[in-house]
Order: sequence, then structure tokens, then C-alpha cells
Amino acid sequence: MKGIVLAGGTGSRLFPLTKVTNKHLLPVGQKPMIFYPIEKLRGIGCQDILIVTGVEHMGDVVTLLGSGKDYGCRFTYKVQDEAGGIAQALGLASQFARDDKMCVILGDNLIHDSLKPFAEDFVSGKSRSKIILKEVEDPQRFGVAEIKGDKIVAIEEKPKSPKSNFAVTGIYFYTPDVFEIIRTLKPSGRGELEITDVNNAYVKEGAMSFNIIENWWSDAGTFESLAKANELVRQKPPLP
Ligand code: DAU
Repeated sequence: MKGIVLAGGTGSRLFPLTKVTNKHLLPVGQKPMIFYPIEKLRGIGCQDILIVTGVEHMGDVVTLLGSGKDYGCRFTYKVQDEAGGIAQALGLASQFARDDKMCVILGDNLIHDSLKPFAEDFVSGKSRSKIILKEVEDPQRFGVAEIKGDKIVAIEEKPKSPKSNFAVTGIYFYTPDVFEIIRTLKPSGRGELEITDVNNAYVKEGAMSFNIIENWWSDAGTFESLAKANELVRQKPPLP
């Protein structure tokens, strides 16, 4: 399985911390934020990892990570010219992924649990996509899954009246047909190609599986969540 870390975007919610650097290079605990998704991908055996980031800070990201030999993996880099959305960033990975299944992690997502059982399930299973859900108190901030029985029936991006408390975390498993779906997308109201539209395409075809995690998960894209992520990492460090 190939690994993909999406580390583009503007980091505008963390301004001025992100005025001269990329959000994913900010410290969380004793490491730059981007180390956490990379370690998760290493934990499921991904050696080929693509990092997507914006033009402004690609140099710093490469200076930090290099070829990957220090981490026992091979990094490939792709520039996202402007922050056109998570699905646009993922679309840049088609040559890299080729015919392989992939695990995609948003660069600002931190999770305690190992991704191993989910990855094994996805690799051996028939499902064309898998997302990881976490029950949260503030679902309005996230993509939210509406679940009926053992199925997701729809996902809403940042709904005002969420239909559940299950947030869609930024950890996704896809087969290469994801790139065909991305090619059909139109920009949303905020001018981005939305990952939630990709996931809803799978949901409509009955081709989306999911797991719910019990342990902690956090993004780190706001001052509040960045502080929380620091605290969680200190109290209960992520498993490999
Ligand atoms: O953290 C989970 C949430 O992430 C999901 O619940 C939402 O469904 C999903 O849309 C996303 O929401 P955010 O509002 O948190 O997304 P944000 O714009 O902060 O981007 C998250 C990461 O995605 C960011 O750290 C880097 C990457 N990204 C984002 C954009 C907009 C890119 O690589 N390129 C982009 O153009």
C-alpha cells in the first residue's frame, strides 16, 4: 500500500504562526507536526510515501525530511500550486499511486491508535474505500457521517445541524478509482474540491466501509486544537 500525506493549504486559522512557515512544520510535543502522519504510515508498513504541499514552503519540508532514508522510507514530493482543496491535493497523487491501494492522512491529523487493523482489513477486503470515524462533542467543525445500521448513508461537510456526533477523521483508505471520482468533481461554495464529495460518491455506490476509534484523535489546525493535540501527545503518546 502507498502512503500519502496532504500538507498543503494556507494554515490561515493559525496566522501569524503560519506567516513564515507551513502549519505542518509547527511543533507538536517534541516533533514537527508532519512527523506524526509519517510515523502512522510507517506503522502500517508504507515505505513509499508522497508528501503534497504548497509552493511557499516546499523547500523547508524537503530540508526537514530529505529522501526518507533517515526514516526507513522513500519520499516523493508534489507541489499543490494553490490551496484548491483536499481532493485537489489528492488528485496530484495519481501517477504516484498507479494501481496500488493507498492510505491518505491529512498532515494536521494526530491519532493515538495504530492504523494496522484498519489497513489490514482494507488490504484484504473488497471495499473500495474506508474512513475512520470518531465520536466528538463539536461535530460542526468536521465532516459528519450519518449512520443507519452498519452503513454510512451520507456525509455532510461542517453541517450546522449535524445528524450524528461521528466526525470523519482525516485518515482515508482508497483504491485507485478515487482519481476517476476526483476528475468528476466541481468546486464547492468555498471554491475547493472537497474530500467529502469524494467520500459521498463511494457512499452512493455502497462502496464505503468504516471503523470507529475509541482512543484519542485530534486535528491541529486551530489554536485550540493545536494546544489540545500537544496535551494529548504528552499525556498518551501515539502508538506506532
Ligand atoms: O480533520 C478532519 C477534517 O479535515 C474532516 O472532518 C473534514 O471532512 C475535511 O474537510 C477536513 O476539514 P478541515 O477544515 O480541517 O480541512 P483543512 O482545510 O484544515 O485541511 C486539512 C489538511 O488538508 C491540511 O492540514 C492540509 C491538507 N490540505 C488542505 C487544503 C485545503 C491540502 O493539502 N491542500 C488543500 O488545498
